[in-house]
Amino acid sequence: MRIITKTGELHEAMREERSRGRRIGFVPTMGFLHEGHLSLVRESVQQTDVTVVSIFVNPTQFGPRENFNEYPRDTGRDTEILKAEEVDYLFLPDREEMYSKDYKTYVEVHSLQDKLCGRSRPDHFRGVCTVVLKLFNAVDPDIAFFGQKDAQQAIILKRMVQDLNLGVKIEILPIVREEDGLALSSRNTNLNPEERRAALVLSKSLEEARRIVMNGERDPEQIIGGMKEMIAAEPLAKIDYVEIVDMENLVPVRKIEKEVLAALAVFVGKVRLIDNTILQVKE
Ligand code: PAJ
Repeated sequence: MRIITKTGELHEAMREERSRGRRIGFVPTMGFLHEGHLSLVRESVQQTDVTVVSIFVNPTQFGPRENFNEYPRDTGRDTEILKAEEVDYLFLPDREEMYSKDYKTYVEVHSLQDKLCGRSRPDHFRGVCTVVLKLFNAVDPDIAFFGQKDAQQAIILKRMVQDLNLGVKIEILPIVREEDGLALSSRNTNLNPEERRAALVLSKSLEEARRIVMNGERDPEQIIGGMKEMIAAEPLAKIDYVEIVDMENLVPVRKIEKEVLAALAVFVGKVRLIDNTILQVKE
């Protein structure tokens, strides 16, 4: 595995790979890797000739009151894991490499960036889109792999790729969960044992949503009510949002039809966790 820290060098290496006819797969991450990240890496290794993984804790997607400095990091361990997965390139830029002192350019995906998580994290998706576009420009991948865990991020990035005529194909892979249902997240390491137990309320409330729909309920308010009730019964949990929205515009639906996204963000102690599920009905 070749470790590269400079954009110019990565660009050159990718040009070389492409000239040999190799298809490039890309997995952007913020590190502290877990099985969720690795599901994306493995898919890329399987589907493409060259896999590039980036690790960069992107400052522009953290709000002023969010703990950028407390985001977990372990580049040594991550590097060993990626070597074992037979990743070809690891891109490890530092902050100055991505954002020079006089940096001024940002990418915004209007209306989508303000929904769901965007309401409590106003500049978050602007930071995500900006860094992902910069990374896409450095790698110029054929396929980029993202997780359904961050459903809004996936939808926004797909929109960005379409709107800006980028050549990359975006592939979204399913949420990887712990055996008890908790969606894997680097943030889970910040939960104490009590909070870890309480955090189960996210996946349990989504299970509850699926159960209510299975029983024939089609009114989103009823489903959201059931989910909120369940979360409110957990003293360590505080709801940020619980919503059922359409998959394209992220607008609350009036009726459960075809495919809709049930998404939630919940504070467990000080840790903000997100989870989601797609509710499907046939009729
Ligand atoms: P990060 O949170 O490190 O996640 C990197 C990728 O792993 C994202 O596509 C995310 O959806 C996916 N992922 C995380 N947990 C997962 C899980 N339990 N199951 C499946 N996939 C999972 O998302 C980011 O970083 C950043 O916003 C980034 C896109 C790198 C831009 O900075």
